[in-house]
Amino acid sequence: MSIEGSSVIITGAGSGIGQATALHLAGRGARVVVADVDEAAGAATVDTVGRGGGKATFVACDVSDEESVEALVRRTVEIYGGLDLAVNNAGVAHHPCDLHELAIADWDRVMAIDLRGTFLCLRAELRAMLQGGHGVIVNMASNAGVKNAPSMAAYTAAKHGVVGLTKNAALQYARRNIRINAICPGTIATPGIAAYPADIQAQWGEMVPMGRLGTPSEIAAAIAFLLSDESSFITGAELLADGGLMWD
Ligand SMILES: NC(=O)c1ccc[n+]([C@@H]2O[C@H](COP(=O)([O-])OP(=O)(O)OC[C@H]3O[C@@H](n4cnc5c(N)ncnc54)[C@H](O)[C@@H]3O)[C@@H](O)[C@H]2O)c1
Repeated sequence: MSIEGSSVIITGAGSGIGQATALHLAGRGARVVVADVDEAAGAATVDTVGRGGGKATFVACDVSDEESVEALVRRTVEIYGGLDLAVNNAGVAHHPCDLHELAIADWDRVMAIDLRGTFLCLRAELRAMLQGGHGVIVNMASNAGVKNAPSMAAYTAAKHGVVGLTKNAALQYARRNIRINAICPGTIATPGIAAYPADIQAQWGEMVPMGRLGTPSEIAAAIAFLLSDESSFITGAELLADGGLMWD
């Protein structure tokens, strides 16, 4: 189905890639649910979408909490009459360190939000999409979902988990009119990255074969491709959007 007129949940849409995705999809006529644990950030995204003439509503959600995720999907169906598309984008990283120094709390937090959160969202979204008879889902992985991210053991494990979960789910629902893919961005100039000194950002850009960081709107465009009918024969894929970093 086309993006125009579709209902779409975007988790973690209060900032960065999720926010850019909300703006992109609303700009193409989607009816967006901005889901985020940070209410102020989510409300700001909804305001920005509205100022641009798009349609969005905020629903507070902690993706690591089962009841919160179930309520998010219920509310979306109430507001928009069904769920057509979903972007399971919410995720966190941890401070780089050697594995033997990784705090249990960091491991648990990354697993709870990045992997369990993706599972909980997928599960609830699939139920709504099965009711509607169709759907497309994009899970946010990372370059770290297909290769090592140095000193980021929990993040690497969680994002590899997201890629595996995507493939498993894609095959289960391939004959039920639901496509599920993962997107694997390299280093993207989101607010978290922009907080680092300019020379560090420049060094990271130099490490990329294309010689620069990606932008949130470039990832939003790749996500929109995976959600749209232009990718109608693609399911279970992990789409790299990393300026060539994977192959360097
Ligand atoms: N920025 C990058 O370079 C990069 C690269 C590859 C993958 N990613 C992935 O893209 C996604 C978005 O990254 P970003 O850089 O835009 O992040 P960001 O920190 O700018 O935004 C993340 C958003 O998720 C929300 N969030 C955090 N925990 C949540 C929870 N439990 N429930 C609901 N919302 C929650 C935050 O409030 C925030 O609004 C993440 O999954 C990240 O791992 C980012």
